[in-house]
Amino acid sequence: MKQKITKAVFPVAGLGSRFLPATKATAKEMMPVVDKPLIQYAVEEAMAAGITDMVFITGRNKRAIEDHFDKAYELEATLEAQGKDELLRLVQSVVPKHVNCIYIRQAEPLGLGHAVLCAKPVIQDEPFAVILADDLIDGEPPVVKQMVDVFAQYQCSILGVQDVPRAHTKQYGIVSSTNLAHHIERVHAIVEKPKPEDAPSTLAVVGRYILTPRIFHHLEHIKPGAGGEIQLTDGIEALMRDEKLLAYRFDGIRYDCGSKLGYLQAQVAFGLKHEEIRAGFAEYLKTIA
Ligand code: UTP
Repeated sequence: MKQKITKAVFPVAGLGSRFLPATKATAKEMMPVVDKPLIQYAVEEAMAAGITDMVFITGRNKRAIEDHFDKAYELEATLEAQGKDELLRLVQSVVPKHVNCIYIRQAEPLGLGHAVLCAKPVIQDEPFAVILADDLIDGEPPVVKQMVDVFAQYQCSILGVQDVPRAHTKQYGIVSSTNLAHHIERVHAIVEKPKPEDAPSTLAVVGRYILTPRIFHHLEHIKPGAGGEIQLTDGIEALMRDEKLLAYRFDGIRYDCGSKLGYLQAQVAFGLKHEEIRAGFAEYLKTIA
């Protein structure tokens, strides 16, 4: 029987050190692009793919994320009393009723692979999506939906990939692959952060994954890698020895909001698309160009 993806894991327990001091007391994923936190864009992307269970792997800064997706009694009562109906609807629509939010605490930031492993008790024996909210991707349809459609056909693990300049391979996991179909590659190896001259290709893994539950077995058994962390890439490499692994060249523009430059680029791009401010913002940009 064909399996469906109904659960997404959002690892949000990283230190976000590149954004200190902004991330000293709040998670990087709560930083807004125009008027919405990164994590809300990620959850909306999952909802657009038909996912109903959102599993957040939180760390020491979990409060703001839990509160964001919770009912805000006082705020809602105040907006109602003030007759601010539109704002009230906006606040209430953050999570629709059919969507469940589940929080799991990662006691120590032991790496992305470890964060994903923390989701095992909730995911159990099902394939699932992993979404890194700091990779904000503007795609139509949204990228997780594109990947869920690929999964519906191939029923195996899939990595979201994009071509990057060769000079940047050191920042990514880079795949070695052969073309299988339009936008779809069969992965033979992943090399973590290779030097440009050693990179097997320029196809980089970015923050969207569909994984089969077999990944948990490998994450439980791999040894800490670079920086003493349990690396998701190492788990995926081991998974590839048991099962077919695909890479999907998604359609969409990605903003690396874990970096200051990428975050500012996202503000400009989303500002220029935002109904309320786009005209004024475009005017302003002309004055400083
Ligand atoms: P990053 O490599 O971007 O690390 O993590 P970071 O700590 O968030 O940011 P910098 O590099 O210090 O600035 C990739 C994703 O994995 C999550 C992060 O929250 C981010 O979404 N993560 C990382 C965890 O949930 N737990 C970890 O132990 C490590």
